[in-house]
Amino acid sequence: MSSALLIERLVKRFATGKPAVDVVSFDVPAGEIVVLLGPSGCGKTTTLRCVAGLEHPTGGRISIGDRVVSEPERGVLVSPRERDIGMVFQSYAVWPHMTVRQNVAYPLKHRRGAGGDIKAKVDETLALVGLAEYAERPVTSLSGGQMQRVALARSLVYRPQLILLDEPLSNLDAKLRIRLRDELRRILKQTGMTGLYVTHDQSEAVVLGDRIGVMKDGKLLQMAAPNEIYNRPADPFVANFTGASNVLLGKVLERSGDKATIDLGAAGRIETWTPQPLNAGDKARVALRAENVRLGESGPANAFTGRVIERRYQGMQTLYDVELGGQRLEALELGTAARHQDGEVSLTLPPDACWAYRDEGALAIE
Ligand SMILES: Nc1ncnc2c1ncn2[C@@H]1O[C@H](COP(=O)(O)OP(=O)(O)O)[C@@H](O)[C@H]1O
Ligand SMILES: [Mg+2]
Repeated sequence: MSSALLIERLVKRFATGKPAVDVVSFDVPAGEIVVLLGPSGCGKTTTLRCVAGLEHPTGGRISIGDRVVSEPERGVLVSPRERDIGMVFQSYAVWPHMTVRQNVAYPLKHRRGAGGDIKAKVDETLALVGLAEYAERPVTSLSGGQMQRVALARSLVYRPQLILLDEPLSNLDAKLRIRLRDELRRILKQTGMTGLYVTHDQSEAVVLGDRIGVMKDGKLLQMAAPNEIYNRPADPFVANFTGASNVLLGKVLERSGDKATIDLGAAGRIETWTPQPLNAGDKARVALRAENVRLGESGPANAFTGRVIERRYQGMQTLYDVELGGQRLEALELGTAARHQDGEVSLTLPPDACWAYRDEGALAIE
């Protein structure tokens, strides 16, 4: 499949500070949704604005379809209006003095070659975003979530080659955010749109993305399908940012391919998966999700004995603080019953869910 968007070695440097985007490359195949995920300040918005043409890149090349829209080394810079993209921002960018219908019709009336049956196109798009009954209302009479649907409809109605979405759900309350998140995926997939979506919210990234790119300090650390990001994080920051909050410290005993054995000291040895060419003797950190700690189980590999120090019953799940050979683990047990007491507990850490990385000091998130 051809790439609807191709970004090659993109660099954006502002007047001061480190590069906001630091040699980033990826592509978005036609019909796919790619999500850029990362903490505040990692360069997501700047990347998106470079694609939109609202920011002038310092280096690299951006192509939309088969057209190069930005390549500073060759003096190429296509204006935002000529890039055929739709954009949805965090704030509801709607025309306050217009009805819903007028808002959605606006781009059809004001874009070259976007004519045709305006009423039919608007009606179809309003139905798609669930606003068919609101067409004749003043847009200011709508709720925040509905206004964001109007903004979405307005960028979908002329079927741009590419739609860019910058944290479009972050001004909505939690319940609405989840509903619109799930619906957004349906809407984008139904239209077959190609999308680049940026967020700091991992649950949005997983639900919406065909692929997720995790960014940190202007760099793209990993770009992969959601299940790969969650089960095979290429970098300790990716593991941590997507919720693998447990870290066990140790030393590499041996490695063969993507399998490593780590000496955890008092806890004993642990079998792990690793994306890195670790060497025996390297200091290592083993990352692991609380969800993957199997309390009360004695598996065929990585079976340990620990101690429950504290448990926090949360109704639908219980969190346990477990001491393991002088180190600390959090374990999560799903279900409405907490099955383990304080004190000694057997536990299994499935080797596939334990990921070893070279220990390069503390991991700071924000
Ligand atoms: N117009 C600007 N001038 C100077 N620095 C900027 C500007 N816009 C963004 N930055 C800096 O670039 C970095 C990336 O910002 P941004 O792309 O907005 O991050 P994100 O969207 O991931 O939160 C930050 O350090 C930010 O302070
Ligand atoms: Mg941003």
